[in-house]
Amino acid sequence: MMPALALVREADYARIAQRFIAGLTAQLSNSKSAKRTAEVSLGRWNVLFSVARSRNSRELFDRAVRVTPGGVHSPVRAFKGVGGTPIFFRSAQGGTMTSVDGREYIDFCQSFGPLILGHRDTDVAEVVREAIDTAWSFGACEPYSLELAEWITSRLPWVEMLRFVSSGTEAVMSALRVARAATNRNRILKFEGCYHGHSDSLLVKAGSGLAGEAASSSAGVSDQVASDTLVAPLDDEEAVREVFDQHGQEIAAVILEPLPANYGLLIQRREFIDEVIKLARANGALVIFDEVISGFRVALGGMAELLGIRPDLVTYGKVIGGGFPVAAYGGRKELMELVAPVGPVYQAGTLSANPVGIRAGLATLQKVERANAYAQLEERTANFCDELKSRLKERGLPFQVTRTASIFWLHSTTDQPIRRIEQIPSQNAERFAKVFHAALDRGVYLSPSGYEVNFVSLAHPDELLERASTVILEAAGLAVP
Ligand SMILES: Cc1ncc(COP(=O)(O)O)c(C=O)c1O
Repeated sequence: MMPALALVREADYARIAQRFIAGLTAQLSNSKSAKRTAEVSLGRWNVLFSVARSRNSRELFDRAVRVTPGGVHSPVRAFKGVGGTPIFFRSAQGGTMTSVDGREYIDFCQSFGPLILGHRDTDVAEVVREAIDTAWSFGACEPYSLELAEWITSRLPWVEMLRFVSSGTEAVMSALRVARAATNRNRILKFEGCYHGHSDSLLVKAGSGLAGEAASSSAGVSDQVASDTLVAPLDDEEAVREVFDQHGQEIAAVILEPLPANYGLLIQRREFIDEVIKLARANGALVIFDEVISGFRVALGGMAELLGIRPDLVTYGKVIGGGFPVAAYGGRKELMELVAPVGPVYQAGTLSANPVGIRAGLATLQKVERANAYAQLEERTANFCDELKSRLKERGLPFQVTRTASIFWLHSTTDQPIRRIEQIPSQNAERFAKVFHAALDRGVYLSPSGYEVNFVSLAHPDELLERASTVILEAAGLAVP
């Protein structure tokens, strides 16, 4: 028999919820505590209706698993890291997404990072509409990618030339090919805990043998390919030195997320990054900054700008396309001139520099610059995270928030900053799963894994963040016995 609450249709749910919220809003005084009490009651009311609201998602997921591995087109979306059935969303606007069941969620996943202006920013939407009315794809020369390329190269001095591709994976794979061609060496050095997309040579983890040796971390990656990649731990200058001592003359490039944000947020010490670069340069290896997440996110010039470091090659994705599939690799002119058709490094793409994505990307970056977005995002996210952190501490809840710019990571408390994956507390994933679901039940969608970071956009006003903070705090309270 169907539970009684499931009989509440989605349309009714949305209508009742709206009325309830309007009623509550009318009663809210300016006092923060009254506001919070009201928000907590709203959260409880939402939980009550959770049975009704996820019915359609469950039905869709049952269908999806029959035709797609795990029901998803990218593994993390399957909720494996947190358990349960993924929510299916049908629309999004600003800082929120709406599920197929008609429920609105405050969204901190933000498509895993591209949406620095939030979902469907109105100015960008206008440009996209115009782009769709103009041309979808030429497979030929057009002025739009030229405009974006000039916009970027005129602002980021380390990007003397660039090439657009359609995903971060492609950007990284191509940058590595350039590095190998430029140095006539085969091996690359990456760091444990950094993610660089799903190309074969980067699906590797630290091996158990000699310094830096790696093993494939995915079935289907050949041992030969994996053996071209060396892996060192983050935050450990000595280990990197050892790898260079043993393999210095074989390494074409060191690839680094200067702000590792794919295994939690593992903020590195400046001295570590400097030492990695020093060792690379001393051994004739190129330095590749993978700024697919951090580029145009933590500052216009990403971590390269914040650190004042000029990488030889750099990769961008996510924000550069404003929510559309655009990515790029670029760097020193003489390196980029190795790329076909000028040079011998082959790389191509049917939909590369797709005009809709490119125009969305340019409109996004121009708005970010115009709106002085980084200062605003910094202030907004810092206030939100600082307040959440101190409320968690006040309540004695074993969670902590680590933040850089508008990226934050909610994780189990530790005494020391977490800079390496083995420093992440062992119970982190399990505890996070509980917070995740309690927050979800109350209308806040965090990235669905304890190892994924969250993003604040310009479309997350303080009022939305305050509401989210109350929900996360309540969810954290429910996650511990
Ligand atoms: C640092 C970094 N590099 C590369 C990639 C791969 O990008 P994509 O998913 O667009 O292929 C990602 C994706 O999250 C990333 O975070």
